Amino acid sequence: MKIRKAVIPAAGLGTRVLPATKAIPKEMLPLADKPTIQYIIEEAVASGIEHIIIVTSRTKRAIEDHFDETPELRAALERKGDHKKLEMLERIESMVQLSFTRQPTPRGLGHAILMAKDLVGDEPFGVLLGDDLVVNDERPCLRQLMDVHETYGGCVVAAMRVPHEQISLYGNVALGKSITPRTHRIRDLIEKPKPEAAPSDLAVIGRYVLTPDIFDALERTEPGSGGEIQLTDGICALLERQQVFAHEFEGTRYDTGDPVSYLTTSLAFALRRPDLAPGVIAFLKNLHLDESRALDKLD
Ligand code: G1P
Repeated sequence: MKIRKAVIPAAGLGTRVLPATKAIPKEMLPLADKPTIQYIIEEAVASGIEHIIIVTSRTKRAIEDHFDETPELRAALERKGDHKKLEMLERIESMVQLSFTRQPTPRGLGHAILMAKDLVGDEPFGVLLGDDLVVNDERPCLRQLMDVHETYGGCVVAAMRVPHEQISLYGNVALGKSITPRTHRIRDLIEKPKPEAAPSDLAVIGRYVLTPDIFDALERTEPGSGGEIQLTDGICALLERQQVFAHEFEGTRYDTGDPVSYLTTSLAFALRRPDLAPGVIAFLKNLHLDESRALDKLD
């Protein structure tokens, strides 16, 4: 079945990047000069998604404002005759149909997805997590998962091999039969296992295609890892009833969930931009001098 809708959970408190996120949603923190959530929405649109449901919480109004019309800004740019920026505004404000719903209390990723139940309805849908950026200019990561769903049905999670000691940061996949070199049936799913208990080094990355059966499964899911209702546990409950695939996507994955990964991802995204890269490269070429001075100060 064709996938038209996607859910972006954006209700998290962003405590790992405080104080930046005290009053600003972490999804609005820019990578180079663009809010993180805009990249995520652009990936969904490039994948063929027509309607995006964003699950927010009390402090996240700036997300809604970012994609809304801005007549004052438009008038100011018109007065200046800045057609390039006007086109940019137009693109942001008419990108895709957006709906917003709230998660009243932070009860976990699975619970956040459940908040989108009525807006999604009875059809398969995509999920994109804002902390994971995946770059593939030809075939976006979500599109790759949609293609697997359109061929084989069932649910599909994006997967990537990670160093064994890092598996406890992720959902972990126990593999069944391989369907293609990159697509495998899932036998079991475990949220953030200890490395010694992990059945593989294959981690779940924040892109999913889910069937609407997930809502019923999530309604029955008890709090798991971290005392939260985990999406991984909901998907695991579906394994008895339908096929669930792990797809080792093609593309480069960047994390933004903690200060170091946020900074390095921002740098990587600036380096991909022809208008920003030369200045950033010039700065980096001289950085070793500054770095040794900064380290001197620490001694
Ligand atoms: C979430 C999911 C986890 C997944 C990860 C990918 O965890 O619960 O299964 O591996 O995203 O980034 P979080 O990073 O929100 O704790």
